[in-house]
Amino acid sequence: MSQRKLHFGAFLYTPGNHSAGWRHPDAVPRTDMQFHYYVEMTRTAERGRLDTIFFQDTAAVGGSGALDGTSAYRPTQGRQVWLEPATVIAALAAVTSHIGLIATATTTYNEPYNVARRYATVDHISGGRAGWNLVTSQVEDEAGNFGLEKHVDHAVRYERASEFYDVVAGLWDSWEDDAFLYDKESGQYYDTSKLHFLRHRGAHFSVRGPLNVARSPQGRPVVAQAGSSDVGRELAARSADLVFTAQTVVRDGQAFCRDLRARAERYGRRPDDIKILPGLMPIVGRTDAEAQEKLETLQSLMDDRLAMAALARLCGDLDIYQYDPDGPLPPLPPSNAAKARQALIVELAKDNNLTIRQVARYLGTTQGHRLLVGSPKTVADSLEEWLLAGAADGFNLLFPYFPAPLNDFVDLVVPELQRRGIFRTEYEGRTLRENLGVPIPPNRFTRQGRG
Ligand SMILES: Cc1cc2nc3c(=O)[nH]c(=O)nc-3n(C[C@H](O)[C@H](O)[C@H](O)COP(=O)(O)O)c2cc1C
Repeated sequence: MSQRKLHFGAFLYTPGNHSAGWRHPDAVPRTDMQFHYYVEMTRTAERGRLDTIFFQDTAAVGGSGALDGTSAYRPTQGRQVWLEPATVIAALAAVTSHIGLIATATTTYNEPYNVARRYATVDHISGGRAGWNLVTSQVEDEAGNFGLEKHVDHAVRYERASEFYDVVAGLWDSWEDDAFLYDKESGQYYDTSKLHFLRHRGAHFSVRGPLNVARSPQGRPVVAQAGSSDVGRELAARSADLVFTAQTVVRDGQAFCRDLRARAERYGRRPDDIKILPGLMPIVGRTDAEAQEKLETLQSLMDDRLAMAALARLCGDLDIYQYDPDGPLPPLPPSNAAKARQALIVELAKDNNLTIRQVARYLGTTQGHRLLVGSPKTVADSLEEWLLAGAADGFNLLFPYFPAPLNDFVDLVVPELQRRGIFRTEYEGRTLRENLGVPIPPNRFTRQGRG
């Protein structure tokens, strides 16, 4: 039996996932706008043989509110500006050779034809390394930039997302693999029988097709999904090759993996064709004590007010500021933003008896993802435990700031994992699908797979 191996994404969330990371003496906050840092970080991740880099996205400045944006403005962290990620991955494709390139695009404030075209283009440019992180927009601030007073309702966002996915996937199948003949002799550029019109008519979209980009090297770019509510999981089970999630203990990771794979099987998919990567912030030192010191330095930089603002975002209509910060977290009303993340935080507070301030600081540290502090051995032990327990296929790595913690992971943890035989020493292939071990979906018009 071949040994199970870990898969990794590097979450390039500049200037850092820790709300105060950018203030660290070694941090380079200018990573947010300067492309050459993205090149450097992506090459580091590729040197470490990580599967992919990953960019999240929100089309708004955080905390700016809906249309009347000025009154409620409360900055939540350093991250307020960043480069548009689909453009960034296109540029990174030209200066890398193997690593996957995943960028987020929301289904709530985009049109499927544009998204299908953009990601198919990057798949061609990169030789089959593009991925689309399909989200429904967790931050309500986006609404104000797209003509709305209020964010679209959670249920409607997912209905639209589901139809959006069908349209995008259908457009990616517009041309069969061998549709283009380029036959100078006969003058036949392409075979018309291998061109397919989508002719989609649904509740949210009418799209005739076909796409004006040929079927791409991966057949379809990799689809990642990161919603964990019930409807979010259902969409992931049907559509995703890769799932980003946020469990913090093995038991919850196992339950999530079991649930998602069972749902995928109901859609006729093989459970192994979905790779599940919980978020993880590793703080690595040469020894456990050195790693702990690194964490303490970071925590001493955190401003409680910014941490509270991050918590306030998950509290829906409840004004969390009216409560004693050193008292328990009150019951929270349903959120229209990130339902699953809210549930995770409520459970974390309950299980560990955390005060409002402690919950806020935890969120400010990792955005609610798991924190793992220690030597390369301590970190590798935990990653191995999750892999062998079936609690994860790998991890989406969050870094408190850039670039040093990414270098620490690649230089200290990766060799330890390779020594244990649970991480690759060379890329298996040239496409992201090959490296993740996920198949090329059959073209819906011919039902023929590939490769
Ligand atoms: C690792 C990770 C990255 C995410 N990135 C984004 C993002 O870039 N933009 C966004 O709007 N939501 C993002 N989300 C949120 C979800 O994709 C989802 O839209 C949101 O949580 C609401 O869905 P849910 O209630 O099903 O969880 C991310 C979630 C995770 C776990």
